[in-house]
Amino acid sequence: MLSGKRILLIIGGGIAAYKSLDLIRRLKERGASVTPVLTKAAEEFVTPLSAGALAGEKCYRHLFDLTDEAEMGHIQLSRAADLVVVAPATADLMAKMAGGHADDLASTLLMATDKRVLIAPAMNVRMWLHRATQRNIAALRADDIRFVGPDEGDMACGEYGPGRMAEPLDIVAAVEAALGDGPLQGRHVIVTSGPTHEPIDPVRYIANRSSGAQGTALARALRDLGATVTFVTGPASVPPPGGVSVVRVETAAEMLQAVQAALPADAAVFAAAVADWRVKNASGSKMKKDGSGKAPALDFAENPDILATVSAMKKGRPALVVGFAAETDDVIGHASAKRARKGCDWIVANDVRPATGIMGGTENAVTLISADGAEEWPRLPKDEVARRLAARIAGALGAGG
Ligand code: CTP
Repeated sequence: MLSGKRILLIIGGGIAAYKSLDLIRRLKERGASVTPVLTKAAEEFVTPLSAGALAGEKCYRHLFDLTDEAEMGHIQLSRAADLVVVAPATADLMAKMAGGHADDLASTLLMATDKRVLIAPAMNVRMWLHRATQRNIAALRADDIRFVGPDEGDMACGEYGPGRMAEPLDIVAAVEAALGDGPLQGRHVIVTSGPTHEPIDPVRYIANRSSGAQGTALARALRDLGATVTFVTGPASVPPPGGVSVVRVETAAEMLQAVQAALPADAAVFAAAVADWRVKNASGSKMKKDGSGKAPALDFAENPDILATVSAMKKGRPALVVGFAAETDDVIGHASAKRARKGCDWIVANDVRPATGIMGGTENAVTLISADGAEEWPRLPKDEVARRLAARIAGALGAGG
């Protein structure tokens, strides 16, 4: 899949740099050639010798290395590759990229390249969530920089949260997608998926049975067509696909925030089963039985409608906004009304009558509702529904397919 492809791999200075050595191996196994570049800080974590030996190529380090300049100028080095990958991309390297700095070899290559750039961020969770980093992420997305990860989990610094570098195989999947010639190349699509959890108290919550299967299949299909996918997922039971940027959320409010932070996008597909209500008087401490036998009264407030909010955006609305609907009767009537009410472009309506066996099954019966009317699709496996929908999205964005 990657045979003959040339990857310029910029390794930033973070503990995750050790995984980049494995990444070199994985890329080479698939036939790619890898030219490693180490930042000064990266050399504190991995040596030029190990990166160069694994790559079987010279490892570049300094901007003003005259030998390098004679052999291959930095401009040429930045453009000889088919893809520039930054892994790990530290907060500092991302800030430099967003600000257009060029004060060392890595940042200069990133400024000088005319090739697609894929970054795998890795940093402490607070640094990732810091407003400055979030600003830089938005700027980099607007500059068409692709992201893979970060993942959420235990971190080397002992904290837990988003900031861990994507696993090498996930980065490989993103590299393959970035180098593919799919019709959604260079397009950014946001997909929401899974249920939301609305807390009652610190240990209890209201949820639903959404597994996230259809949203996950869709994110994978969009990725396979070359899209950069931001996958905003509630606590789903199906694991998220590799090669996409995963943002994990719990509540509807967090999901809306994550979607807004991921904009701008060419298309947004809302496959999540968002809770319509949250508990207004959620308790900050665990609710106790008081012995009276009286159940606590839960007071509900309506959650923001993410699909309707994004559909109504005056500025920066994605060119295509797609919602889902689960209907048991008058599928076309209800779904068409929903499309009008929410202001989205398409509604993908699922017929979830118990007799269809679709709920929790592997197949789906879909009617696509658009301004052109209703189009009934045959009953298909969920993966195939996802592939067809992704192709239609590509078509609607004028990207072929
Ligand atoms: N949606 C959303 N934010 C919400 C509620 C729903 O983004 N707070 C999106 C869902 O992701 C989905 C569509 O809106 O794309 C579903 O709309 P909804 O009104 O919840 O419809 P159904 O789930 O089909 O339920 P009902 O018709 O019973 O309201």
